[in-house]
Amino acid sequence: MQLRESGDKSTSAAEEFRELAESAGAQIMGEVDAPLGRPHPRYLIGTGKADEIAEQAKALDADLVLISGALSPVQERNLEALVKARVVDRTGLILDIFAARARSHEGKLQVELAQLRHMSTRLVRGWTHLERQRGGSIGLRGPGETQLETDRRLLAERVKQLSRRLAKVVKQREQGRRQRQSSDLPLVALVGYTNAGKSTLFNRLAGAGVYAADQLFATLDPTVRRVNGFRFGDLVIADTVGFVRDLPHELVAAFRSTLTEAREADLLLHIVDGADPEAPQRIADVDAVLTEIGAQDTPQLLVLNKADLASDPLDSLLAGDERPQVRISALNGQGLDELRESLNDLLSEESLHYQLQVPFAASALRARLIAYGAVRSESEADEDGWHMEVELSESLARQLSHLPGVSGSCARHQLLKTTPESWE
Ligand code: GTP
Repeated sequence: MQLRESGDKSTSAAEEFRELAESAGAQIMGEVDAPLGRPHPRYLIGTGKADEIAEQAKALDADLVLISGALSPVQERNLEALVKARVVDRTGLILDIFAARARSHEGKLQVELAQLRHMSTRLVRGWTHLERQRGGSIGLRGPGETQLETDRRLLAERVKQLSRRLAKVVKQREQGRRQRQSSDLPLVALVGYTNAGKSTLFNRLAGAGVYAADQLFATLDPTVRRVNGFRFGDLVIADTVGFVRDLPHELVAAFRSTLTEAREADLLLHIVDGADPEAPQRIADVDAVLTEIGAQDTPQLLVLNKADLASDPLDSLLAGDERPQVRISALNGQGLDELRESLNDLLSEESLHYQLQVPFAASALRARLIAYGAVRSESEADEDGWHMEVELSESLARQLSHLPGVSGSCARHQLLKTTPESWE
C-alpha cells in the first residue's frame, strides 16, 4: 500500500494523514509531496506529479493510493486509470475508518448511508457487496439493463431502505433523550480530537466498559451514562465521536445526530492530548467543529489529559485561554479528584435553604439528603416524619423531587418550603 500526500504544507497535517492511514490498517510504503497551489482539473495534482505517483506505485507494487485531499469522481477515475491501483481520497479514508469502528446500530446505519452517498457519484466499480446482500445479481438484471443501471438501482434501493431504518432508530433515541431531559440531570459531553483519551476518561468516570483502543475513532457512537456523587446530585455524561481537522462536510451532516449530545450539553469537557505538541492547533480544530454544529457557546472545561506523558506542561501554551482547565491522566487516575471538584464548581448553582418535613414514605429522600451532605439540622422524628433543615441546589432539589413519595402533589403538601417555586 502506498500513501500519497498532496499538498499538505504543515507537517502536522501530513502526520495526521499518516495516522489516519495507519488507523485504517494501511501499510505505508511511500509518500509523494505534491503542492496544491492550483488544483489540476484532471488529477487534482499536476500531471507530472501524477506520473511520479504512478511510477512509484508500480515500483513498490502498491495496491492502494491515498490522497490527502478531496477528489472529484472524475479525478479519482482518472488517477485510478493512470496508477493502475485503487485510489481513495481523504473523505473515503475517514468513512472507511468510521465503518470499521461503528458499534451501535445507529452508527452503522449512518456510516453505510454516508458511504453509499459518497460512492453514488463514483459508480464505476463493481458493487459486489450490494449484490451479495441481494443474493447475487441473478434475476435482477432485466434485458437491456446495463451493469451501471443495475448498480444505480440497487444503490438507490439500499439508500431508501437505510434511510427508513435510520429514521426509526433516531426516533427511538430521541425518546431516550427526552426521558433523560425530564429527569433534570445536567448533561456533560466529552468532546475532543480523536485519540485524546475521551473513552478512557469516560470509562473512569462512569465505570463503563466502553471500547478504548490506541486507534483513531475507537468511539463512533455516543454512549451515555449516569454518574453520581456530585454536590448537585447526579449527572449524565456522553462520549462523542472523535473530531478531526476539516471534517468533510458530508460527514458533519451524517454525524450531526451523534453529536446532538455536544450541542445540548450543559457543559463540554474538551479533552486534549496534553502530550501532543500540536495540542493548541487541535483545540482550535475541535472548536471549529463545535462552531459548525452550533455548540460554540456551551461552557467548556479544558481537560488536559495524558499528564503522565507530558514532560513539558502545556500551561504556558494555554495561558491565554480563558476557559477553566484541569490536568489529568485518565490512564492512571491522576487529577480526577480535581476534575470532579471542577464539575462541582461549574455545575453547582447557588444553594437554597429548605425546611423539610419528610414523611416516612419518603425515606429514600432522607437517605439521599444525608448522602449528599445537604442536611444542616434534623429534629427527632414524630408521627409526621422527619423535620430537617437542608441546603441544596435547585438542580438537586429537582432531581430529588422525582424520588418515590416526593413526586407530584406529595412534594407540595409534604415539604414545607422556604422558596415554594423550587418544588413546584
Ligand atoms: P477516539 O475514539 O478516536 O475519539 O479516541 P478517544 O479520544 O476516545 O481516545 P481513547 O480513550 O480511545 O484513548 C486513545 C489512546 O490514548 C488509548 O491507547 C489510551 O490508552 C491512551 N490514553 C488515554 N488517556 C491516557 C493517559 O492519561 N495517559 C496515557 N499515557 N495514555 C492515555
